[in-house]
Amino acid sequence: MAVRAIRGATTIEENTAECITRASVEMIDKIIKKNNLSADDMIDILFTVTPDITAMFPAAAVRKMGITDVPLLDMAAPDIDGALKMCIRVMVHINTDMGNDRMRHVYLNGARKLRPDIAEKSRISVAVDGPAGAGKSSVARAAAQRLGYVYIDTGAMYRTVAVYALENGIDIKAEPEKLVSQLDKIKIDIKYEDGVQRMYLNGADVTGRIRQSDASMGASAVAAIADVRTRLVAMQREMAGDGGVLMDGRDIATAVLPNAELKIYLTASVEERAMRRYREYAEKGAECDYETIKADVIKRDYDDMNRAVSPLRRAEDAVLLDSSALTFEETVDKILEMVKEAEQR
Ligand code: DC
Repeated sequence: MAVRAIRGATTIEENTAECITRASVEMIDKIIKKNNLSADDMIDILFTVTPDITAMFPAAAVRKMGITDVPLLDMAAPDIDGALKMCIRVMVHINTDMGNDRMRHVYLNGARKLRPDIAEKSRISVAVDGPAGAGKSSVARAAAQRLGYVYIDTGAMYRTVAVYALENGIDIKAEPEKLVSQLDKIKIDIKYEDGVQRMYLNGADVTGRIRQSDASMGASAVAAIADVRTRLVAMQREMAGDGGVLMDGRDIATAVLPNAELKIYLTASVEERAMRRYREYAEKGAECDYETIKADVIKRDYDDMNRAVSPLRRAEDAVLLDSSALTFEETVDKILEMVKEAEQR
């Protein structure tokens, strides 16, 4: 954790309480959203106003928007010849794991021209696909956290539908049409708490439940049903919004986000993936046999790559990242490099 400062500035049209409120709230709201901040991350918010602003304190406007636990302060900017008029500046100090180069400063209205050097960097959509066991989710989650991007684990959505089927006694393979006829009753909500994706099924938190082995098996069957995919893909596209997102799955580059600015196909050899899983089980003290695990990896690859709808395959324009000989950190670093390079394009 380090203390970092996010900068912002905006201008107002008229010296009225309404204009000051609107501009201050918009600026703080954008700083919070673009930097994925929660109230706990913020240490303080310091405003300055040029001498022509007298109708209201920006801090009062921000307090009214519900930010009451963070210390707020207004100060007068010096009266300098030629300086921008009617300008509100802000500095928000935060606690964060992110580097200084990931802070997203917000310059709006007439203030855009003040700091073109630190104004908005472009944020892209990143698709990460690959076979099971390649470490996609842990690597993608860590990369997103360091980039200040939202991480979306699409496998969790297929798993959540599987939990619905399990809880409602639906045999997914034998009666897929029964599951499809109940799709309207399945409400999936995804919430981000401290950067962790939590899954809710009809209001109940199923974050832990979806990782159990019956949910994994069920998810694989659910993922082969075309109507389920159509529904979930629509949700995933909406969630991707206008960028700043790293989404992992099997068909992100080929079906969900075919226009993603960066597509990565993350894989590792069958032997390496089986060995990683073997070590995971062994560390937990679970009974395990390398050859059985390896056979399971081969079977899952076959199932994923040979199903009729949206089979797993590397998109033509996806960068191949083979992590067989890389450590976790090295893999994350490679992804960060690729994203930063793609952001500049
Ligand atoms: O990545 P995972 O193990 O959580 O995925 C669960 C299942 O969902 C797995 O069988 C693959 C499938 N899946 C899919 O078909 N398409 C996606 N975009 C994500 C996962």
